[in-house]
This record gives sequence, C-alpha cells and structure tokens, in this order.
Amino acid sequence: MTISTSVYQLNADRPDEATISLASRTILAGGLVAFPTETVYGLGAKALSEAAVAKIFAAKGRPPTDPLIAHIADFEQLPQIAINLPAIARQLASHFWPGPLTLVLHKSARVPANLTAGLDSVAVRMPDHPVALSLLRAVAVPIAAPSANLFSRPSPTSAQHVLDDLAGRVDVVLDAGNTPIGVESTILSLLHDPPCVLRPGGVPLEALRSVMPDIRYETRFVGEEVAASSPGSLLRHYSPRARVLLFSGLDEAKVFAAMRAEITRRERVGVIVSAADARQFTGLDVAIECLGADSGQAAARLFAGLRALDKRGLNFILARAPEKKGLGLALWDRLLRASVGSLIEV
Ligand code: TXA
Ligand code: MG
Repeated sequence: MTISTSVYQLNADRPDEATISLASRTILAGGLVAFPTETVYGLGAKALSEAAVAKIFAAKGRPPTDPLIAHIADFEQLPQIAINLPAIARQLASHFWPGPLTLVLHKSARVPANLTAGLDSVAVRMPDHPVALSLLRAVAVPIAAPSANLFSRPSPTSAQHVLDDLAGRVDVVLDAGNTPIGVESTILSLLHDPPCVLRPGGVPLEALRSVMPDIRYETRFVGEEVAASSPGSLLRHYSPRARVLLFSGLDEAKVFAAMRAEITRRERVGVIVSAADARQFTGLDVAIECLGADSGQAAARLFAGLRALDKRGLNFILARAPEKKGLGLALWDRLLRASVGSLIEV
C-alpha cells in the first residue's frame, strides 16, 4: 500500500517546534516518522505498540527475526523498556548517553514481542541529535527506530536516501541534513559476561574499554541465516546492488596493484577509497568515491558513497580494508558486510 509522504526541512540545531509537534502527533497516532540521529536516519514508531512496530517491519521489508532498537530521551524512561539493570548500565549511560551506544538488556514485559523478535533481551539507546531528542521529548514515550532504509540497503545518512528507499511507505520525513557520524551505533550486550560488542559503531571499542576494560568483541558473521541468539549478524546487510570486493593486505603497494588489475580486467568498476588512496587510481577507467582524510570523514561518507556508486549502475565496487581501530573498526565491519564476506587477501 502506498501512503503519502510529507517531508519537512528542519534546522538540525534548533528544530522548529510546530514541525516537531506535528511529527509527534503522527507517532502518537501510530504512524511512521523518519528522523535524523547523530548516526543515521531512523524510521520511528511508538515502541510499546505492537501495531506501530509492525508497520516498521512492513515498510522496510525487514524479516521479523531482526529486532529493533528502542530510543529514549531520558534515563528515567529506561524501566519502561528494560528490567534488572546491572550497575554498569547506569555507568555506561552516564558516559556515553546521549550518544551512539546501544545497550542490550533484559526486556520489560511492556515491550511488544515483535520489537525484540521474540527475544527476552531488548536494545536501547539515547540518541545525540537535537531533532531526535526534541521528537522523543515531544512524544514522551520510547520510539522504536531501525535505520530508515529498505532491508539490506546501505543505511541512510540524508533525507534523500530515506526517500529513495521509503517514499510512499512512511508518513513523515524530518530532513535536517546529513547525519554527522554516518555509521550506526555500537551495540553492546550487557547480558554477556563480560559484556560483548555485537556491532562496532559510533562509539569506538577503545572508548568503551576505557570505562570497562574487559569488554569483548569477536567478529562473527553467519551467512544468510540469522540465529535468533545473534541477531544483526546477518551478513547481507548494507549491500549496494553492485558486488563489493574488499582488499586487505600488509603490503600497500601489492594491494593497490591487485585493485588496479581488477579494474583493468573488469567492466564498469568503481572504487571507494580515502583521498590519499584515490591517487592510486588516476588515469584508469574507474568511478572514484572519495572517503576523505580520516576515519571520521570516511564514516560520514561511506553509505552515501556506496549509494552514489550504485546509482551509476556499476558491476563492481572495490574498497581497501581500513585499519581496525577507532571508527575504522565500524568501517571495516560495514565494508565486509557490504562485500558479503568476499575479502580478498593480497
Ligand atoms: O545508530 C543506530 O543504531 C540506528 C539509529 C536509527 O539509532 N539504528 C539502527 O537500527 O542501526 P537497525 O535496526 O538498523 O540495527 C539494529 C540492530 C540490528 O542489527 C539488531 O539485530 C540489533 O540491533 N538488535 C536489536 N535488538 C537486539 C537484541 N535484543 N539483541 C541483540 N541485538 C539486537
Ligand atoms: Mg539497519
């Protein structure tokens, strides 16, 4: 079913109250509102309403086995979502909220089963964006929001990305420009002992470990199947339509040579690389998307870059595996997922 989608432009730092109030009425009436967070745009609906949550799954074409994140504006709202909070939850929240950290906790009985895909656990975060926080305060209830893209497409970092995927499937889009961080939140399970990062993201692992040194992180991808106990590890996430080939190796010169050979051998190829690396590909028949000077810029540009290359109808997109530190770990994770695991070790 197609619905009419209204788009409103907002100032990212001082969102207009009338627009926020309109969006909040849409949420409270059980509708869908796409809104910016500091990470990516989210597709929001009332978290404690099973019917509203069901609309999110339908709009995205998301499998019911993949649970959503509940968003709150205030630590006092947490008991509506989660129970039996460990002491470390408050400590981590006071360090990192509002911000790009999602905590996996025991779910409250009030949370509808479809939000958590039937799990006993629930994911919660407090986003650090004036538009998201204003909306959350206006509705005064938790908002469930996955990234506002169609299932398996790259996450949206602009309102245009949201519209490219979801026009006619969402009631309201709040457009406040590009999202500053550009990769999704770090997901940390406090139900594992020691706590375990399930998805690297906007809060670097090093920052988490400065508060809690024993936090674990293991890369663990399952192919097409998601085990109910490890949702979100579905490999075919963030995929553009072109095939992504991810090149890795200690010898830079060899890696670049392998990438250039691939470009020469194939037709309709693009690369998504740092500004410094881009120089390696001048003069070749290749579309270049530049990720900028550092991992912060690369995170902000990665999904837009993948979408831009995809619009050119390429067959292949080549990338170089980033260093797995700071935001680089999240970049590496997203590129590996985009490549559906086809890492080429040079
Ligand atoms: O930055 C973000 O986190 C963005 C913005 C909109 O807040 N949201 C986001 O949501 O990335 P989504 O749905 O695209 O990703 C949520 C991930 C999913 O991969 C899901 O599997 C995982 O969180 N997740 C949700 N509940 C979980 C749970 N109870 N246990 C383990 N993982 C969970
Ligand atoms: Mg997503």
